[in-house]
Amino acid sequence: MGKIAFVLGTRPEIIKMYSSIQYCIRNNIDHIVVNTDQHYDKNMRDVFFEELGLPRPDYQLGVGSGSHSRMLANMLVAIEEVFLKENPTVVVVQGDTNTVLAGCLVATKMGIKLGHIEAGLRSYDRTMPEEYNRIVTDHCSDFLFAPTQKQADILKQEGIDENSIYVTGNTIVDAVQEVSKRASFEHEGKFALLTCHRPSNTDNEESLEAILSAVQTICEQENIRCVFPAHPRLGAKMDYIKSFDRIEVVEPLGYSKLVAAMRDAEIILTDSGGIQEESCIMQRKCVILRTNTERPETVEVGGAVLLTEVTEDDILSKYQEVKNRTVQWTNPFGDGKAGERIVKTLVEKV
Ligand code: UD1
Ligand code: UDP
Repeated sequence: MGKIAFVLGTRPEIIKMYSSIQYCIRNNIDHIVVNTDQHYDKNMRDVFFEELGLPRPDYQLGVGSGSHSRMLANMLVAIEEVFLKENPTVVVVQGDTNTVLAGCLVATKMGIKLGHIEAGLRSYDRTMPEEYNRIVTDHCSDFLFAPTQKQADILKQEGIDENSIYVTGNTIVDAVQEVSKRASFEHEGKFALLTCHRPSNTDNEESLEAILSAVQTICEQENIRCVFPAHPRLGAKMDYIKSFDRIEVVEPLGYSKLVAAMRDAEIILTDSGGIQEESCIMQRKCVILRTNTERPETVEVGGAVLLTEVTEDDILSKYQEVKNRTVQWTNPFGDGKAGERIVKTLVEKV
């Protein structure tokens, strides 16, 4: 079939591409891994390669930070050079980041087949940078790997040829299954887990204050503390965050620690896409710190709740609502073999 080029760049892409890359390694399928380095700190990048047993990427392009347009432009130039040299038969991207859009555009301009893992997600929120990245990438792709039937239906409704859509499950299940066997997280006493990195929350003073105040109040009510592995984009706000004394700010966690922290936390509060899915997979309740989601399955099964507005009162009331529910659900995101299914499809069809 020729060569697969996996293009990745951020923490969730490493985690969610891991099982497809691993399947290629184990089955001697010709491939390269191109890392744009959109995330470049050791604890946002290297730890995930190490923990998931992935070799170093074949290319590290060193393009990270800066405005979205500058980042994208630098990625386009650097990725094109790699593709000219390596001549891949198919390019695979995952998710909705700027790296995904860059990989998509270069493949499309060079006439190389494109596969999109996690196709068909829609928040219908055009203020999110990710929403455009998803839509453009889906409409340029030759192979659309939808996690569930819901996303396959969305893609068909948008006019995408159903013969190019494959329902595979979400590759996050593959990754959770891999690390949960060895996951452990040390913490004295009960705790809540908070993550927050959406620009609509981190770059908006009122929203950030509402989230931190609500978490502080929840912790006081429950007499617990809150572990907050802070995304580096919160760098300038650390002193402010640390003024909430129930909130323990820590560096971004390695993957197995984060999975263990999710398993052990009393409650998860997050605006992360991956953590919404993982809490659902692990049967943990979750308050989504957003008013919309491109992962409605987590809300539909009853384990997660969305906000009506990002205010302290609403977060407190949604927390009570989800806490008081007695619910059990089956994981809607698949069986942990999505990565294998994706690569097998490419080998068969390309
Ligand atoms: C990006 C993705 C987002 C994804 C998230 C996963 C886009 C538009 N956004 O958001 O969809 O949910 O990754 O975490 O692609 N920084 C560091 N060190 C790092 C990485 C980032 O200090 O290793 C800081 C820099 O100041 C950088 C800022 O964080 O400018 C934002 O990074 P960027 O990659 O632009 O966006 P994320 O918020 O990480
Ligand atoms: N994650 C991690 N350590 C952390 C925070 C997140 O390992 O400190 C993992 C998390 O389990 C999930 C992924 O990173 O698999 C999600 O990344 P993030 O929240 O940055 O991005 P999103 O999923 O929102 O795009």
